[in-house]
Amino acid sequence: MPHPKTVEEMTECAGPIECDVLPKLIQVTEAAAIAAAYQMGRGDKNFADQVAVAAMRRMLNKLDIKGIIKIGEGERDEAPMLFIGEEVGTGKGVEVDIAVDPLEGTNLTADGCPGSVAVMAMAERGGIFHGPDIYIDKIVVGPDVVKYENEHPYEKIDLDAPVRRNLEIVAKALGRSIKEIVVVILDRPRHAQKITEIREAGARVRLVSDGDLMPGVATGIRGSGIHVVMGAGGSGEAVLTAAATKALGGKIIGRLVLPSVANGMPREKIDAEIEEKLPRLEKMGITLESLNEIMDTDKLVPGKDVIFSATAVTPGHFLHEVSLFGSGDARVHTISMGSSGAVKFTDSIYIKDKQKNPLYL
Ligand code: FBP
Repeated sequence: MPHPKTVEEMTECAGPIECDVLPKLIQVTEAAAIAAAYQMGRGDKNFADQVAVAAMRRMLNKLDIKGIIKIGEGERDEAPMLFIGEEVGTGKGVEVDIAVDPLEGTNLTADGCPGSVAVMAMAERGGIFHGPDIYIDKIVVGPDVVKYENEHPYEKIDLDAPVRRNLEIVAKALGRSIKEIVVVILDRPRHAQKITEIREAGARVRLVSDGDLMPGVATGIRGSGIHVVMGAGGSGEAVLTAAATKALGGKIIGRLVLPSVANGMPREKIDAEIEEKLPRLEKMGITLESLNEIMDTDKLVPGKDVIFSATAVTPGHFLHEVSLFGSGDARVHTISMGSSGAVKFTDSIYIKDKQKNPLYL
């Protein structure tokens, strides 16, 4: 009797990066998350970040890849490890471009608050946007909205449209009323107007003090309780969101914006930021005019063979926090995915002392 060959078929359509690197990528984010978890609640966000970066880099350098960091910890002169342009891996395997955020939500970890993760994405050469470390003002929605847009070409999420209009489209796509929609947005003064508009449109708002990457991923997961992410956050976070969004069939649209502009700083601060960042922007082929261009998922992550992994440090929107059992033993929860459509929730338990820490459910 014929039977569906789902796994075989999906494995066949997975690219070399998904086949060869994704299974090992999970351990890279796991290692960073465990390192960061030991610093949870200790009030030192820089040290928490530092140990996560070091752990991620050690693990990355064991992978048989020819990797180049495209979204990293900063420019070479400001970040000693995982800086933009750093070559990582053993240099033996596939060529990959890499986006990392070894600790997304440094404050959240330092304060022992929910929402921090270790996260990274990879794609073939040229498959990840090489952009500046500024903000991206964005809207992130899930696959139901993409399907609705495909069926209704005149109803598309638009960064410049009124908030109410976008929320109406999301509500119709999800077959619910706007008052049943939840929008996640960073709790920042720059978003005060947008938050008012979301509430006036009737949607519910979940403010987050930090960490707008994983809520973006959550828009692609029914049952996460998050339908839209809006607002300006880190550009690296937006690129990583795009990698997951692409694998899950959702969508992100956004445009680069200088933090001084987004945060309503006085003219002299804006000029100073332009002066400081323009040469670097221009090297990346970005001018002050093109800064305003709308970028979509494919612009942020043009790759075809894209992989993504995120391991929670503190409790997440849909991931469990790291549990530490003593002697370095730990249990960690990861979401990973690739372009084929295979998504894995991995509940990993690392036990060195099997008698002291027998496995439990
Ligand atoms: P860190 O992990 O680097 O501390 O960033 C956390 C974060 O909240 C991101 O999730 C978000 O995109 C960005 O910072 C927002 O930046 P800002 O704090 O400048 O508004």
